[in-house]
This record gives sequence, structure tokens and C-alpha cells, in this order.
Amino acid sequence: MQHVQLERLLSEMTMDEKIGQLLQISGDFYSTTAQERTGPMSQLGLTEREIANAGSVLGVGGAAECRRIQTEYMARHRLHIPTLFMGDVIHGYRTIFPIPLGLASSWDVDAAAQMARISARESAVSGLFLTFSPMVDLVRDPRWGRVMESTGEDPRLNAEFARAMVRGYQGGDLRNDVERVAACVKHFAAYGAPVGGRDYNTVDMSERELRDMYLPGYRAAIEAGAKTVMTSFNTVNGMPASGNKHLLRDILRKEWGFDGALISDYEAVRELVTNGVAQDDEQAAKLAIEAGVDIEMMSVCYLRHLRDLVESGRVDCAIVDEAVMRVLELKNDLGLFENPLRGADEGRERSVVLSDEHRAAARDIAGECVVLLKNGAGILPLHADVPASIALAGPCATSHDLLGAWSWQGRQKETVSLAEGLLARHPHAVTVARESCDYDDPSPAAIAEAVDMARSASVVVLALGETSDMSGEAASRSDIRLPHGQIDMLRAVRAVNPNVVVVLFNGRPLDLTEVDREARAIVEAWFPGTEAGRAVADVLVGATNPSGKLTMSFPRTVGQVPVYYNSCSTGRPYEAKPREKYVSKYLDVANDPLYPFGFGLSYSTFSYGPVTVSGAEFDDRHPLRVDVSIANTSDVDGVEIAQLYVRDLVGDAVRPVKELKGFSRVRIAAGSSVTVTFSLTPDDVRYVHPDLAFTSDPGEFDIMVGPDSRHLSSPIRVVLKS
Ligand code: NOJ
Repeated sequence: MQHVQLERLLSEMTMDEKIGQLLQISGDFYSTTAQERTGPMSQLGLTEREIANAGSVLGVGGAAECRRIQTEYMARHRLHIPTLFMGDVIHGYRTIFPIPLGLASSWDVDAAAQMARISARESAVSGLFLTFSPMVDLVRDPRWGRVMESTGEDPRLNAEFARAMVRGYQGGDLRNDVERVAACVKHFAAYGAPVGGRDYNTVDMSERELRDMYLPGYRAAIEAGAKTVMTSFNTVNGMPASGNKHLLRDILRKEWGFDGALISDYEAVRELVTNGVAQDDEQAAKLAIEAGVDIEMMSVCYLRHLRDLVESGRVDCAIVDEAVMRVLELKNDLGLFENPLRGADEGRERSVVLSDEHRAAARDIAGECVVLLKNGAGILPLHADVPASIALAGPCATSHDLLGAWSWQGRQKETVSLAEGLLARHPHAVTVARESCDYDDPSPAAIAEAVDMARSASVVVLALGETSDMSGEAASRSDIRLPHGQIDMLRAVRAVNPNVVVVLFNGRPLDLTEVDREARAIVEAWFPGTEAGRAVADVLVGATNPSGKLTMSFPRTVGQVPVYYNSCSTGRPYEAKPREKYVSKYLDVANDPLYPFGFGLSYSTFSYGPVTVSGAEFDDRHPLRVDVSIANTSDVDGVEIAQLYVRDLVGDAVRPVKELKGFSRVRIAAGSSVTVTFSLTPDDVRYVHPDLAFTSDPGEFDIMVGPDSRHLSSPIRVVLKS
């Protein structure tokens, strides 16, 4: 449709039809069983007419179901406007990929784009038009369960992943390419910084910090063309995001020019009342619509009150029209007026969803995301030449709970366990524990069996971790160690056999101090998805050489939290005077994390040569070229992720001690070397100044290169000319 046609359509709509477009309700309302409908209907108090007018649906999947709902919906709608199916496809639809925090550990933005591309294809043939992804909230606090949905603690990396995922979901021609879906970047804004790591909690930070660290991810997604944005649950500097005019109108709309649809998070408009910034639902509706929220998800403040607010002149009708037009435009951008069923196709659904090709991609990508945290005495990869030499035990050994908390359509029974993966590789060498093993409290029998197996095995693989509901939404933890029972099991096994390889399945950085003490090797596998067991077995046996590196620091203890690599310099840096008391430090633990940002080992060994820069100065016309030669000094081919960090020595605001400004994922054949080249421009070192200007500081910078944020070359001083 042309824009004029949309305007004509808008002019034909009654006020109720307009307000209907601004309501999103769940799929239950369209169920064919009265039983499923009545609960939600009475909860929200919706009439059949209101359901018939609601503009979008949350959480329906399946081509047949979407086709049925759409057909019935359009037949009932006076103007035959199609509805819009949205859902949470966060790291895969039915073929589940690693959780985003794992995906980010690949540092492979093309892999993220491929994950999004496959997710889009599976979602679209199953009837969905839009996914509530990417989630780009910057995170520094592993107590918060939703760190699993994020790509980590670095704004630049977050922005790169955000762009890649939008590209993968939407492609270049959303209207005609019916195997793509619209993206929704969330949770705007700063949802990842709740006080104390407690979900839904307050966020209060300077505008400078907000813009410098937290907003770049969202902005990158929008610049990449994300069609929609979701508000966050939290307050941002005193006002909940869903009523926050400054965030939504001043920054998102005016400054960034975002003209797509803005949707609230689940019931977040009504929560303006619970938050205590609105007296009642009517005031909540006024606050949200004036702040710029177009679609209200799963609460009915707009539905119940917008009409009165407009008729009494308290809300300008133009604001409502503007919101409705954005929804119509979104539907139009998806080609729904011409093709209301889009890609929904039961035949294709059968062949596309969970296809061998998608599973193979999920396996490869999951392999890239594994982070080898420790490999004492080169115990890995496993040697499988002796029968029954490898014992596999622990709560995650045979578990299929490996998809993570956000795998709505994923099925555990389609997921490969570690035992299945390892046995397929080495049927004779691997013995698997039979006792059932609880995550919180492995029974004495399970521990005794593991100990017994350990006595006769050359290596014990202990698969430990969290259940998927220990991270994700509403799953904050104050203690981020493994459950005590698992540590007891590890100690007992370690007491009889020092060759313990711990494989971890979990959704957040954990405090691994005790594990690090006991285990000879540690493999961080995250929640790897459908192909979990195969991908991890590939790594354990050396068919995949691990290359993943952390994008979020692993603290030594929860008391260090938040601990992140790009912290600001203090006036009393510990490093300068480690023996003094009056420096910025803890009395009882080191400042740095156990495993730092950027860290991860390989079966290859890499040696970095001297770093060279193209000159002592750089400016707009003369970017700095930074070269480093990296040698693979081992006899296995490997992939290294080389990282460039910069420190701005004198800024108008205090700057981080180091900031990631480039990375390169390079394959290096055994025994050979490659030269990695980075480029640094004045744009790369711009930041948000105290007056909120986004500029750079002329003057001195230190350049450092290395395999992670801790092991860096000695700084090379360069000057940015004014
Ligand atoms: C609440 C979550 O915060 C959000 O991430 C999700 O997209 C919506 N629910 C819809 O399910």
C-alpha cells in the first residue's frame, strides 16, 4: 500500500478500531477451546469485539494456527485489517542455538547473523512476522538472570552483534522476502543495570554513562533498520521506561529519528501505576501514549481509557493517530495488506523447521561458542584409545535441559545430551553414570557412583551447571556459585582422581573459584541448544578446536560484582601502589575477575609478536594502522581472536582503563603465522563528554593488543592530532 492509502484507511477507522490496533494480546484469546479463552478474557475483561479489533498477537507459533487465526480475524474485522503475530525467538525457533551470551563468546558476528537468518526462516514458515530480538542490554552483573540473553559487557561488541542480528532477521527486503521477520530491539533502555542485579529493579545512572555505555547497542540496531523497539520494565533516572518521555521522545524519536513502532514490555504500561508514577490506569495510559509507546502489551490502559482521554481533550487525537499509523506502517512494511499469511506454510514448515541443514549450523555455531577456561597439563582433548577410560557423571551428563530459558518452541526431546554426543564419538571409551543426579543435591548414591567410576577411569568428565530456569527472566541469584551439592561431588571425585574435566552448562558467569581449584580442565559450554551434546563432544575430543572467548567477566566472588574490564581509572589505582592500603581495592580479594573479558584458551598455542603502529600520530585523514604478527606455535590448526584495546590518557571525563576498539577472528594453521591489522580512527575514540557531546579528545592514547583484556602488549603511546 502507498502511504496515502494508509492515510485513507486511518480516516475510515472508528476510535475503537484505532485503539484496537494499539493493543497486543496473547494467542490464548484466539484459541478454539472456550476453556483456554475464558481465563485470560476475564482477567483482562475483554469482550469478543475488543478481541476482534486487537491489532497484534503475542506468542502464537505454527503455520496452521497462525493461518486459522489470521483468516478468522480478518473476516471479523470490519476493515479487514490483518493482525500481526509476534513472538520471542531469541536464539532459535525450533532449532535452538546457544544462548546469546554464549553466541557472543564466538566473537563471530556472521555466525550471529546466520543464527538470526535461520531463526527467521523457521519462524516465518511457522507463521510469525516479528521476533522480540535482539536483546542488546549491556550487562555487568551476573546476579541478574537475564545476562544470558545479552551479548555482554562491551558496548562496541554489543553494537556489532545487534547489527548482525537485525541483518539476519530482516534481510534487505522484508516486504517481499517472506522468510524474514521484523526485529524488535529491547529492552529500551538500560534494563541490564538493575540495582543489586534484581530483575525489574531500579536503574539510576548519569545521562553521560547511559549514553556512553548503555545506549550504543540499541542505536546500532535501529541504524541497521530494526522495525520496532520494546520499552524496558525498569525505571531510568526516576521514570519507568514506558512513561519516559525523555528516553522515548527526545532520544529515540527526535535524536535518533526512529519512526518505527514502539511496544511496551508485558503489562509495563499498567505497571506505571504499581511504580507509583501514575494514580490509576487512565493516567498510565496518558503517560505512556504521550511518551510515545504505540502498542500496549497485555494490559488494557489504552483500551479502557484512551477514548475518554481524547474526547475530553486531555490527550491530543493526533498522538493516537500517529501511533496507529505506525502500526499500520509496520503491517504494510511486512506486506500484510497484500499477503496477510506471509510465509506461513504447513508444507514448508515440515521441511524447513529443524532441518538437517539447520541442525548442522547449530552444531557448528555451538562449537564456536565453547570457551575453554582451563586446560591443566593439556588434559584436553580427550584420548580415547583405552576402553572405558572416560567416565562421565554429574547432573548435566544425561540431561536434555540444555536449551536455556528462552527456547519457546525448542524441545528437550530433540536435544542431544552430552552423554549421547560423547558416546557417539567414543562408544567404547566412555562410561556414563546411571544414578539419577539432582542439580541441587546429588544423592550420596550418585556421588558414590561417580567416585567409583573415577577410581578406574583415566579421566572423569563431570558435567555440572545450572538448570535452565536458574537464569533468564525473574531468575536473579545472590549466590552465583554452583549448588553446594555439585561442589561436594567435584571434591569427592577429585579426591580419587585428579584428572577431572568440568563441563559447565549455565546461563551466567559463575563464581568458579572452587571449581578452578579442584578441576584440571574447565569447559564453559553455556546452554548450547539443540545440538548441545554433539557440539561439546566435538570440542572434548578435539574435532573442534575451541576458540570462544568470554564477553562478560567471571568474578572470583559475588562480592566483586560488578566487575568488568572497562572500568574507569580511579585517583588511587591499585596497580600503581599494590602494597598500600589507601588505594582502590578490597582487603580480602583481588580487584580483577577470575576469568577476564576476552579470555579463552585453545588447543593451539599462539604467540604474539611485537605490535607496530603506522606512526606516532593519527587524525581524520591519517588513521592509525596497528599490526601484530601471531604465530600458531602448536601442531594443531586453530582460530585466534586478537583484540585491540585503547586507553585515552587525558579526557574531559574520566575514561576506562581500556576499551575494546577492534577484534579479529583469524584461522592460523599449525606452525604458521598471520599478520593481523587493525585500523584506528578519531571516530573510534569518540565518547560522550560531560556536556553530552560525542567527540574525541586530542592528545595521548595508549594502544595495546593481545589475546584477552588481561594479557596485553606493553602500551604504545600515540597522539591524536586536533
Ligand atoms: C517479557 C520480557 O521482558 C520480554 O523480553 C519479552 O519479549 C516479553 N515478555 C514478551 O514475551
